[in-house]
This record gives sequence, structure tokens and C-alpha cells, in this order.
Amino acid sequence: MLRAVGLSRTYGRGESTVWAVDALDLDVPAGQTLAVTGPSGCGKSTLLQLFGGLDRPTDGEVWLGGRRIDHLGEQALARLRRRAVGFVFQAFHLMDELTAAENVELPALLAGASPRAARRRAADLLDRVGLTDRARHLPAKLSGGQRQRVAIARALVNEPLVVLADEPTGNLDSAATHEVLRLFDELRAGGQTLVMVTHDERVAATADRVVSMRDGMLADDTRLDDGVGSGGSGGGPRRSGASSELGALLGWEG
Ligand SMILES: Nc1ncnc2c1ncn2[C@@H]1O[C@H](COP(=O)(O)OP(=O)(O)OP(=O)(O)O)[C@@H](O)[C@H]1O
Ligand SMILES: [Mg+2]
Repeated sequence: MLRAVGLSRTYGRGESTVWAVDALDLDVPAGQTLAVTGPSGCGKSTLLQLFGGLDRPTDGEVWLGGRRIDHLGEQALARLRRRAVGFVFQAFHLMDELTAAENVELPALLAGASPRAARRRAADLLDRVGLTDRARHLPAKLSGGQRQRVAIARALVNEPLVVLADEPTGNLDSAATHEVLRLFDELRAGGQTLVMVTHDERVAATADRVVSMRDGMLADDTRLDDGVGSGGSGGGPRRSGASSELGALLGWEG
């Protein structure tokens, strides 16, 4: 579903070049929940941004849903970020002046859903994350855990091929962390492909697989799934035909 081939991203030039990601190969099968760990500065966020089309590699390839995405033009990349990827960030990044429901609706509207369909999807998702009674609240009136649950609902509204989460529990206390992990567990059971960057071992322990990075490279790759319901190449049921969906999502042929 997601693949990095010889992926590199450098910053700067000459002697001061930083290899944020260094010739990294990684394959994330459809339906897998992957945790990416490693010390600060090892390249985790950079990798996630390359996977989601938020940044471009210096070298190598990124594949999403069977398509190479690192060469896409700006418009196609913007469409891909909107339709095929759901982002969840440590700092939530909700729109302060929009209600919880409006925050969830927005990416659906931007992707072309009718207002009515967007409202219905947002209501369903807020129900799924247990926030129906907070739908009309502004983010400022929500707790951190509630804000992150709104952000997760927002990430899911366009049924992305992959959810990418960077330190999703980094700003949360342990009760709120627990709520978010419960949601991720539901996503995993539903076959959602999910890549999450985390420092928290409890969070990593909920994944099917944990990779750790050092200096832009993979240092370790451990499969945690117990085999229940998985065919050996990632846990959970698959979304049928997910790997052929990207072209359709983006309005491309063949
Ligand atoms: N825009 C940038 N310009 C220059 N260097 C950068 C830039 N973004 C990241 N870097 C460098 O690239 C390396 C990887 O950064 P990255 O943010 O991916 O690390 P990280 O593993 O996410 O760290 P943390 O756990 O602290 O979030 C670091 O050395 C960082 O200083
Ligand atoms: Mg980071």
C-alpha cells in the first residue's frame, strides 16, 4: 500500500548536508498498522511527510496504492493529500473558528462532497469517536483528547487509503491516550492502513509492526502481530481492491 524505495531527503548542501532520510526501503502492506520509533531527529516526521506527499524526496521513490507519487505535480499532490491520505498531528491542527463537526466536514467539502453528504459523514464519524454531544463545540471548548478524536474523524472523512499520524498522543494525558489508542485499534480491526510515529512504547505496542529509525535509516523491524486474523502480510481484513483505488480517487485513468 505504501512503499519507499531508496528514499532519501537531505537538507542543506556540502559539508552541512543533513540526511534526514537516507536510502530507506520500507514496504507497508494494506491493512498493516505500523509504528515508527527512534530518537529525536532520526527522520521520522520527514519520512511521514514524504509518504503523505507533504514533502518531496531528494532521491528514491514513494509509492502509494500502487502508484508512484513522488513525481506528481503540485495539483495532483494536493488532490492526493486531500483524498487518499488522512493526517493526524501532535498539535491537532484544527481550525479554531470552526466547530468540531465543521472541522470534520471541511475536507469532505473540499473533495467535492455535497454539504448534505459531508454533514452526514461528519455526524457518523463524530459518533464513531464518541463526540456526538460535542459536535457544535469549537476546539477551544474541547479537551486535548477530544480535539484529537475530532482530528482523527477529520482524517477519516474521505476514506483515505492510509492514515499517517505523527506523535498522535504526544500532547495527551494517559486517559486521552487510551481513548485515541482504542480508536486506532478499531481502525486496525477495520483494515485501515495506518502509520504512526511515536515515542510512547504503549502506543507502539498496539501496532502490528514496529520499525525504529537511526540517522535516517531503519535500525530495526519487528512484527508484533500475533497472527490472529492475518495472512502473514499484515493484520486485519483488507479493504477490497484498495491498491487499485488511487487512480479512481484522483480521477486518473487505468
Ligand atoms: N526544514 C528543515 N531544514 C533543515 N533540516 C531539517 C528540516 N526538517 C528536518 N530537518 C532535520 O532533519 C532531521 C530529521 O528531522 P525529523 O523532523 O524528521 O526528525 P524526527 O525523527 O521527527 O524528530 P522528533 O522526534 O524530534 O520529532 C533532523 O536532523 C532535523 O534537524
Ligand atoms: Mg518528528
